[in-house]
Amino acid sequence: MIIAVDGPVAAGKGTLARRIADIYGLKYLDTGALYRAVGLLLLKRGEDPANEQKAVQAAADVGEIDLTDPALRNEETGNAASKVAAIQPVRDALLEYQRNVAKAKPGAVLDGRDIGTVVCPDAPVKLFVTASAEVRAQRRFEELKAKGQNITYEAVLSDLKERDERDMGRKNAPLTQAADAHLLDTTKLDIEAALKAACQIIDASKDAS
Ligand code: DC
Repeated sequence: MIIAVDGPVAAGKGTLARRIADIYGLKYLDTGALYRAVGLLLLKRGEDPANEQKAVQAAADVGEIDLTDPALRNEETGNAASKVAAIQPVRDALLEYQRNVAKAKPGAVLDGRDIGTVVCPDAPVKLFVTASAEVRAQRRFEELKAKGQNITYEAVLSDLKERDERDMGRKNAPLTQAADAHLLDTTKLDIEAALKAACQIIDASKDAS
């Protein structure tokens, strides 16, 4: 079984996707980490993440980055990732890897922005996880504060809105809800409530197939 989980930054889709994979015994792939790895590699090389030629080269070398590197999670890397993600040849270079993970047994939960629309358009279950920008910024702000980062809520909100605009407004595979995706709005849900709602959707889809 393949489960596609898409949505904007800090909607809770990563935690949700990981928990779903555990419950249903599936592999888990955080596809954002691949774009972050390309962004981080460019930052390490001192290159501009919006430089298409350098970004394509970095996508080919993405294996050089350890996908557990904590630097993948910082805001600077996230911003660089959002820039490289707008470059179609970078997306093409990462596509095959994502599809291979999806089709390997026993199946996988992939989270990202274009899983239900581009990477796995035939996935039998698609979730589009979202929440208001303010609630997402508040969650991200608390996460960063807990990590000891010195940042204001206003800066996190403005950064998040900028990233939303870039992810939704880009020409190549923009973030959008697939026509057959189930909308899961987590504005008023904590992780346990969101997980329960997601499992209900997945079980209903399994029963129907
Ligand atoms: O989910 P994230 O914040 O780790 O993603 C980092 C960036 O990568 C984000 O700005 C959008 C981009 N991305 C994408 O374009 N397609 C995906 N499938 C996953 C992430």
